[in-house]
Amino acid sequence: MSKPAILTGLRANNDLHIGNYFGALLPLIDMAKKQAGTYQILLMMADLHSFSTPIDHTKLHDQIQDNLRTYIAAGLPIEQEDIFLFRESYIPAHSELMHILDCFTGVGEMGRMTQYKDKSAKIGTDRVSMALLNYPPLMAADILLYDTTYVPVGDDQTQHLEFTRDIAQRMNNKFGELFTLPKPAPEQHVFFGKDQGLRIRDLQDPQKKMSKSDESGKGIIFMHDEPQKAAQKIMSATTDSIGMIHYDLEKQPGISNLLQILSLLSGQGLQAVIKQYEGQTQYGPLKSAVAAALEQFLTTFQKAYDEVTDKTLTDKLKKSEETLNSIANKKLALVQKAVGLRG
Ligand code: ADP
Ligand code: TRP
Repeated sequence: MSKPAILTGLRANNDLHIGNYFGALLPLIDMAKKQAGTYQILLMMADLHSFSTPIDHTKLHDQIQDNLRTYIAAGLPIEQEDIFLFRESYIPAHSELMHILDCFTGVGEMGRMTQYKDKSAKIGTDRVSMALLNYPPLMAADILLYDTTYVPVGDDQTQHLEFTRDIAQRMNNKFGELFTLPKPAPEQHVFFGKDQGLRIRDLQDPQKKMSKSDESGKGIIFMHDEPQKAAQKIMSATTDSIGMIHYDLEKQPGISNLLQILSLLSGQGLQAVIKQYEGQTQYGPLKSAVAAALEQFLTTFQKAYDEVTDKTLTDKLKKSEETLNSIANKKLALVQKAVGLRG
């Protein structure tokens, strides 16, 4: 790449909610805006990773398109040449390199990875897929093909990042300088600024975080919720019987969550919102303000989403994938030569 690379993989995640939006999408878009110019930003839909555990395959394609479209609707500046939006399975070099890395990776080593251990303990080693065991080498291939320097991921991915560094070093030791090692996790944290720890809570049960795994959906605001219905979910959010507004996540998680959501929706700082409502003895006006802000926010977002045409998305993907295929194929050729596949 002509500039150092920042790469991250986005898992296809149906029904994105406002927690995903404010906690993951927006920070990534902000980062891309800030770093483009100095770095090349590679935002990859990790489509091959997305069925290492069973999924509904009739929905996968729509889900991928929806998620990509959401990034654009949320303001990803796709006109910037340094920002690439692409799909893993459209660059065959990812799978090719994965196989080569597999040949230098121990089964025992992969069996000890936390993600594999957790999931195989839940569903049993007979039913767990080879792809789950093989998840880290595919992720390493994603990263190493582009000599990536920084990889913004959550803490649960740190072990995979460390494996990427290990396998890159192992290959370099054996075959000469093939790969750039991504920075170690602590340096990544310094570069990206420590995770702000934003956690939007479930509206019905504010003790837990808003998460798509909640079956009923009553406590979750989805990005595609009908705006008026979403506003009703706010009006029936669980609060408490204390009868006075304080920002206190322990004693008043429901109220504090509403203050937090209002601050995100309105773009006002949390302190400003707290100052405005603290000490009030009625919860109704706060709920109404959040409901109105939410209705407005979803209406605006959904309009922007509808305006992202198929052509806009396809053009960006095509352009990114063309450029990246050529970069990835060069790196792959180097590795193929090093291991003796090519003369
Ligand atoms: P879910 O819990 O809905 O399955 P994921 O675990 O797939 O969400 O998370 C996708 C991204 O969204 C992660 O970066 C995660 O930190 C962020 N995220 C998920 N839920 C929330 C939340 N309630 N508040 C803030 N960020 C969240
Ligand atoms: N494993 C990552 C996750 O679950 C997604 C991912 C796949 C990824 N390939 C990647 C992240 C490469 C960063 C770099 O969130």
